[in-house]
Amino acid sequence: MTETRTVTATDEDMKSAVSEAVALLASGEVVAIPSETVYGLGADAFNPEAVAKVFAAKERPSFDPLIVHIGRKSDLHEVVEVEPALRDVVEKLTAKFWPGPLTLVLPKKPEIPDIVTSGLQTVAVRQSAHPLFRAICRELGKPIAAPSANRFGRISPTSATAVMKELGGRIPLIVDGGACSEGVESTIIAIEHREGKKPLFTLLRAGPVSKEDLQPYGKVEKAKSRPGDAPTAPGQLASHYAPRTPLLLFDRPEDFIPEEGKKYGLISYRDDEDDGYVGLHEWEKVEALSPGNGKLAEAALRLFFVMRLMDEAGLDAIVAEPVSETGLGVAIMDRLRRAAAKI
Ligand code: TXA
Ligand code: MG
Repeated sequence: MTETRTVTATDEDMKSAVSEAVALLASGEVVAIPSETVYGLGADAFNPEAVAKVFAAKERPSFDPLIVHIGRKSDLHEVVEVEPALRDVVEKLTAKFWPGPLTLVLPKKPEIPDIVTSGLQTVAVRQSAHPLFRAICRELGKPIAAPSANRFGRISPTSATAVMKELGGRIPLIVDGGACSEGVESTIIAIEHREGKKPLFTLLRAGPVSKEDLQPYGKVEKAKSRPGDAPTAPGQLASHYAPRTPLLLFDRPEDFIPEEGKKYGLISYRDDEDDGYVGLHEWEKVEALSPGNGKLAEAALRLFFVMRLMDEAGLDAIVAEPVSETGLGVAIMDRLRRAAAKI
């Protein structure tokens, strides 16, 4: 057992938290760091022993590669090799979406250890918009490899408390930067050059940057992998983001047939009596993703928090109301389907 400390940082006073995190990272340790999407468990991306500790703390299988985070856009070339034909589009995408929740999969530099990419010749890279994450990368002077700071397959943490529940006793430090502002993980795309045509973006994971946001820069295609396929693409495992309590997702509300004596909770979009599943059953507990108006951005940022609340409520099952699959709704439904899938 490692004793896990939490150090709190604010936008005004980040200094001591940043120095403490950097000292540990520089000595080959792992640290949980807030990003705008979810908390990450970071290690020096150039240090394979440190990266191995990330896999161990998360119990993450070695075939699931990590995202590398850079402190400055100009550090991109320490991590990836961008072929000349793709320079223009990479420049445009990073100018528009970085720092922010867009991860690019590109050919890796030989200096990136194989453990980071699970042996793939490509690496996933992004620049986080969170001031703490960027400050820590910059002061360390190295890119940071960081997956979400949860045990493998479980709900991603959007607060320091959630990280403590997932990894307390396994890691030395959590930097508490408050709640994450996006709440779901970054959008991931692989980019390919096509002669005489717009570049092709393969959407490997839906996230805050939507298909519509990306379309002006290239042709966006969904990854071909299906639940159950080998994880060649991210977000790929059918069962992921999963609470311990079974999560049920139905195509039509009438498909929900409650079993006698069982306690069901509802994750509702708006918690409105006249809309959705609220009136469908005597729910033991109802939590709304976006109370009142129903805003997808609010729903996304509350999703993992609400999943965790429901998971801790002693229910027999959690029913989730579907949200419309437009914009951020695509990322929300992706997470709900994987939380509901059983393999
Ligand atoms: O928002 C985020 O992306 C957060 C924060 C911490 O940055 N990170 C995150 O990491 O969600 P993680 O490990 O939970 O998810 C990263 C995904 C994995 O599903 C992995 O398979 C995929 O990225 N990935 C990493 N490298 C890849 C590569 N070279 N090719 C395809 N997929 C890759
Ligand atoms: Mg994850």
